[in-house]
Amino acid sequence: MEWTFFLLAGLIVLAGMVVLPIFFGAPWHPLMPYTISRILKFVDIRPGETICDLGCGEGRVLITAAKEYSAKGVGVEIDPIKVGLARLLAKLKKVDSKVSIIRGNIFDFDPSDADVVYLYLTHQALDKLFPEILKKLKPTVRIISYRFCIRGMTPEKVSADKTLFLYQLTKGTEINNYT
Ligand SMILES: C[S@@+](CC[C@H](N)C(=O)[O-])C[C@H]1O[C@@H](n2cnc3c(N)ncnc32)[C@H](O)[C@@H]1O
Repeated sequence: MEWTFFLLAGLIVLAGMVVLPIFFGAPWHPLMPYTISRILKFVDIRPGETICDLGCGEGRVLITAAKEYSAKGVGVEIDPIKVGLARLLAKLKKVDSKVSIIRGNIFDFDPSDADVVYLYLTHQALDKLFPEILKKLKPTVRIISYRFCIRGMTPEKVSADKTLFLYQLTKGTEINNYT
């Protein structure tokens, strides 16, 4: 009797984690370690840079960026269970001083500290974020989107399998060339 209760409760929590985010912007789909490495190499993350993951799930992209590339990670996630999981994983991997996970909505988040913005969201969510978010980003930010291109923007680089799209903002670089 007791175990059926826990099984049922577990299934409801799992269903909530997978299904509910669909209504906010994107479902959850944990990535393979190989894919996380590909993403971070493709965007050429460097030590000391801040990478923001909008809709960070369990935060493994940020944790890997901190652990293997000495980057700082900031993640925003709407689902409190994934927020807790991401914080726990960051602690277990001993990068909790470099990775902060914010519980919130990507549409209210201020990404102005980001050197790199990483996105794995649906086209609907990306359409809602862009181009509005561009005003809030650093002039030199690099944006990497996994699986979904950002409609209306031209990527700097696309992976051969068309799953990684890299965008480079160049606001102000012309002026910098003359100063
Ligand atoms: C496809 S998963 C990507 C997770 C992580 N970025 C990764 O690549 O492993 C999308 C995540 O975005 C979260 N999400 C969806 N809409 C959101 C919103 N409006 N605000 C914050 N998080 C959101 C979901 O809960 C889910 O964890």
